[in-house]
Amino acid sequence: MKRLTLPIAALLALTAPLYAQDATTPAVDTSSWNQGGGEQDEALHLIPDHQNGIDTYEVCSACHQMTGWGLTDGTFPQLAGQHPNVIIKQLADIRAQNRDNPTMYPFSLPQEIGGAQSITDVADYISKLPMNPENGVGAGDDLEHGAALYAENCVRCHGDQGQGDNEKFYPRIHGQHYEYLIRQYQWIKEGKRRNANPDMMAQIQKFTDKDTKAVLDYVSRLKPPAEMIGEPGWENPDFE
Ligand code: HEC
Ligand code: HEC
Repeated sequence: MKRLTLPIAALLALTAPLYAQDATTPAVDTSSWNQGGGEQDEALHLIPDHQNGIDTYEVCSACHQMTGWGLTDGTFPQLAGQHPNVIIKQLADIRAQNRDNPTMYPFSLPQEIGGAQSITDVADYISKLPMNPENGVGAGDDLEHGAALYAENCVRCHGDQGQGDNEKFYPRIHGQHYEYLIRQYQWIKEGKRRNANPDMMAQIQKFTDKDTKAVLDYVSRLKPPAEMIGEPGWENPDFE
């Protein structure tokens, strides 16, 4: 069992200075958003081990919560219910420093959680957790505009319900915390999220702040299928 002994505030304080390095993030290499290879390919072809998924997730739970529901203020995204291939790709990208995540980086490394097998195991485990029934949403004052923008600009990749596509590595975005969606979207638009999809980047360049808020408010209110959503107050029995 891997246990985190420091309280989370201390962990964040420890890693905080790394944020400074973020200022000069290079522009997105538009050819390489999903190069594959390396650990990503390896992890995609391994058979998940449930117990190691639980043991590995214990490290993650310090930030993403025991439930995988993250925090409503968007500091930590909900992971529960995300497609396994998306989790594998994001985790492999973060480990390979193809996506900057200074807070999480030290906890994502092989010496902390193990090799490709642990990526497979934790991705499978997370993807099967019930999702947050009360995720953070936006102001709710511009939803018609949001719906129209979504239909025109996002459906072809993220699906009509925000469900994404496991095979194509398109993330599930429904039920995600609004504040997290805003941050990622802005970073994708500006090229700060280096593993972003170049077609998506191009698609959203014309969006104003008003458009961004409207479309992501709409997305945050799209409901995942009922059977994927947990009960309010659900506690993860694997960590009792
Ligand atoms: C110290 C806190 C911390 C720990 C521990 C941590 N994470 Fe994270 N994680 C974050 C933060 C913060 C973000 C969002 C970063 C951003 O805004 O780009 C994140 C983002 C992610 C994402 C991207 C989600 C998305 O929607 O794109 C994945 C996947 C992820 N974490 C998986 C994990 C896994 C698996 C573990 C355990 C092995 C883990 N994290 C441990 C803080 C943490
Ligand atoms: C051409 C396909 C495509 C289009 C169009 C597109 N996206 Fe994306 N989007 C992606 C892919 C692929 C990713 C993940 C990139 C990566 O691997 O990091 C992503 C990531 C995101 C994320 C970050 C999710 C996370 O969990 O970190 C958000 C938010 C998002 N898209 C919202 C939107 C919205 C809203 C629209 C419409 C205005 C849109 N996207 C249009 C393909 C697309």
